[in-house]
Amino acid sequence: MLSGEFAYDRFASVYDKYTDMVGKVSESEETSAFLARLCRGGNALELGIGSGRVAVPLTERGVTVEGIDNSENMLKLLADRTDLIKAWKGNIAGFSSEQCYRLVYCIYNTFMVLVTREEQIACLQSAADALDEEGVLVVELRVPAFDGFVNGQKTTTMFVDHENTFLNAEIHDPITQNLIQTFLWFSGTSVRRLPERLRYVYHQELDTMAEHVGLKLSERWGDWKRGAFTDASKRHVSVYRRNRLKR
Ligand SMILES: C[S@@+](CC[C@H](N)C(=O)[O-])C[C@H]1O[C@@H](n2cnc3c(N)ncnc32)[C@H](O)[C@@H]1O
Repeated sequence: MLSGEFAYDRFASVYDKYTDMVGKVSESEETSAFLARLCRGGNALELGIGSGRVAVPLTERGVTVEGIDNSENMLKLLADRTDLIKAWKGNIAGFSSEQCYRLVYCIYNTFMVLVTREEQIACLQSAADALDEEGVLVVELRVPAFDGFVNGQKTTTMFVDHENTFLNAEIHDPITQNLIQTFLWFSGTSVRRLPERLRYVYHQELDTMAEHVGLKLSERWGDWKRGAFTDASKRHVSVYRRNRLKR
């Protein structure tokens, strides 16, 4: 099985360029504005902090941000960018933190890197345990979509320009709800293979898993600008609060 660590240690060298090309860098300000509002003077913890795409602008808004990531190379990108964020190597599928946070967030489909239901529940349990009494968990996840799959497979052209051709080859395993995918990035004379395995969940399964660990949905949006979540939405931004006092 391909592990997330393997995938992102390889991905790190092109991560900032890739996120810029697909519009995720330009979205960072509205994402951090949304998250800052929920911090209300408290600290934040990002699960799968990566290169700090959102953590850095959130810090610039006055929030103390910490983060966990299991990729040395992604953590190095973050360290090269700032020394204001404490981040450590760890697995978001079951972590413990010494302090509690007003906000724990897991964005840009990072929850999907946990490829079993058990790992996903363990992540939500750890996140719930890391919240203070007023704390909230924010999860940004894409809505599963299978248009274009033929016999369980699909190849998508992510983007093409004069320098780059970026394809994604995916195989769908409906039994495990896994997508086994490899990004193929052709640039100049080089080809990079960036393999990854993901587990998709629909929003209602996410709510059920969250309820299982003592969280309840408090807000759900279709984007970071608080657009409505509708049957046309391609993703959701879900905010959970505790439904019982801490143990
Ligand atoms: C899609 S990227 C998102 C990075 C960042 N949150 C952002 O929004 O740009 C997923 C991140 O999760 C990290 N990751 C993958 N599996 C992980 C795991 N099991 N535990 C901790 N981090 C993980 C990867 O190294 C990568 O930095």
